[in-house]
Amino acid sequence: MAVAAQGLTIVDAQGRRYLDACGGAAVSCLGHGHPAVLAALHAQLDRLAYAHTSFFTTEVSEALADQLARTAPPGLDQVYLVSGGSEAVESALKLARQHFVERGEPERSVFVARRQSYHGNTLGALAVGGNEWRRRQFAPLLIEVGRVSPCYEYRGRHADETLQAYTQRLLAELDAEFQRIGPRRVLAFVAEPVVGATLGAVPPTPGYFAGVRALCDRYGILFIADEVMCGMGRTGTLHALEQEGVVPDLMTIAKGLGGGYQAIGAVLTSKRVLEPLRMGSGLFQHGHTYLGHPMAAAAALAVQQVIEREGLLATVQDRGAYLRQALLQRLGDHPHVGDIRGRGLFMGLELVADRGTRQPFAPALRLHARVKATAMAEGLLCYPMGGTVDGNEGDHVLLAPPYIVSEYDLDHIVDRLARAIDAAVSAAQQVA
Ligand SMILES: Cc1ncc(COP(=O)(O)O)c(C=O)c1O
Repeated sequence: MAVAAQGLTIVDAQGRRYLDACGGAAVSCLGHGHPAVLAALHAQLDRLAYAHTSFFTTEVSEALADQLARTAPPGLDQVYLVSGGSEAVESALKLARQHFVERGEPERSVFVARRQSYHGNTLGALAVGGNEWRRRQFAPLLIEVGRVSPCYEYRGRHADETLQAYTQRLLAELDAEFQRIGPRRVLAFVAEPVVGATLGAVPPTPGYFAGVRALCDRYGILFIADEVMCGMGRTGTLHALEQEGVVPDLMTIAKGLGGGYQAIGAVLTSKRVLEPLRMGSGLFQHGHTYLGHPMAAAAALAVQQVIEREGLLATVQDRGAYLRQALLQRLGDHPHVGDIRGRGLFMGLELVADRGTRQPFAPALRLHARVKATAMAEGLLCYPMGGTVDGNEGDHVLLAPPYIVSEYDLDHIVDRLARAIDAAVSAAQQVA
C-alpha cells in the first residue's frame, strides 16, 4: 500500500522506499508532490471544482486548451479534453468516423493499425490495439481492424536488409493492406510513434512515418498518432512525432499531460478535420460527464507550465542521453539484454535467453513478472511486460523516470535494475 510520495520516491505502509523509475506507466513526469501543481490544485478546488460542459466552459479548461494549441504540431490547434488515454483514443476513432460520414464518405469504416501496439482497454481502443493477449477473450466484441507489422527493427529487419529496405518493406505492407481492404473503405491508420507498453520504447526507423503520411495522403486516409504514452515531453520533444517531421490528423495525449496529479487525456486535431462537422451537424456526437474537468485541467495546465518554464524538454534530452549511456555501459554486454532502445527518458531493454540467436525466455518462466518483483525488492519501480515478440513470447523492461531525475538518481536506477535483472534471470534459470 502506497502511503506517501515526494519527488522520485514512493513510500509504502511498511515504510519501504521505492525509487520511481517508470512514473507508474510513464505518467509521473514531474515526480510526486510537485509544489506548483499542488498549489494550482488547491486554488482550483477553492474556486470551482466542477461545472458540466453542456452549460459552461471554464477559465482553466480554456487556458489549458490555449496552452496545448499554442504548443501543438502545426495546425493541430483544436483540443478536446477527456479523462484518460482510452477515452482519448475512443474519441479520436469516433471523430474520424464522423468526419467521413459528414463529408459524404460513409463507406470509410475500417481502421488499420499495427500488431503489438496498445491503444487502451475500452472496446474501440482495444479493437485497434494489436496485443493478442489483451484482446483474446474480448475478440467477439471487437470491430474488425486491418493489421500490419510494427516498425520493430530488432525483430523485424532481416540480417541482410538495410534500414531503408526494411522501412520500404513495411510501407509496402501498409499499402498492400490498404489495397486489400479497398483504400476508399479505410478510415484511418492508428499508430504509436514510439511504441510503449507492449514493445518497450521502440522508435520508428528513419522515414517510416513520413512514408505513412504520404500513403495516407495518397488515399485520403486519416492518420491518428497515439501519443498517450510517448508524448508530452517523454522523448525529449513535446510531441514524439516532431522528431519525424510529420504532423498527424489527430493526436491523442494523456499520461504526461497531467503527470498523474489528475485523470486527464486529450485529442488534438485540426480545423480541417472538424470542418465537415462545423458545416454539417454542428456537433461532435460524443461526450462524457467529466469532459474538460476543471480540476484535471488545473493540474495539467500547471504541469505543462512547469515543463515550459523550467525548460524540461532540454533536461529530458540531456538526462536521456545520460541514461542511455549508463545502460549501455552497465548492461550493453549483458548476456541476457538483447537490445537497449528508446528516446529521451523513455528507454526499453529487451531480455533474451540467448543474445546471439535472440531467442526469448520461455513465457512460462514469466521473466518480466520476476523482474518487477526483484526490482521492488531492490527498492526500484520499473515497468516490465511480457509478450514482446508476438503477444506471447518475449520480455522487456520499460524505464520512464520523471523529467526531474538527477544523474545521481539515474546511476542508482541503473545499478538497481542490473541487480534485479540478474536476480530474476538466475531464479528463472533455476526453475528451467
Ligand atoms: C499508447 C497508449 N494508448 C492508450 C492508452 C490507454 O490509456 P489509459 O490507460 O489512460 O486509458 C495507453 C495506456 O497505457 C497507452 O500506452
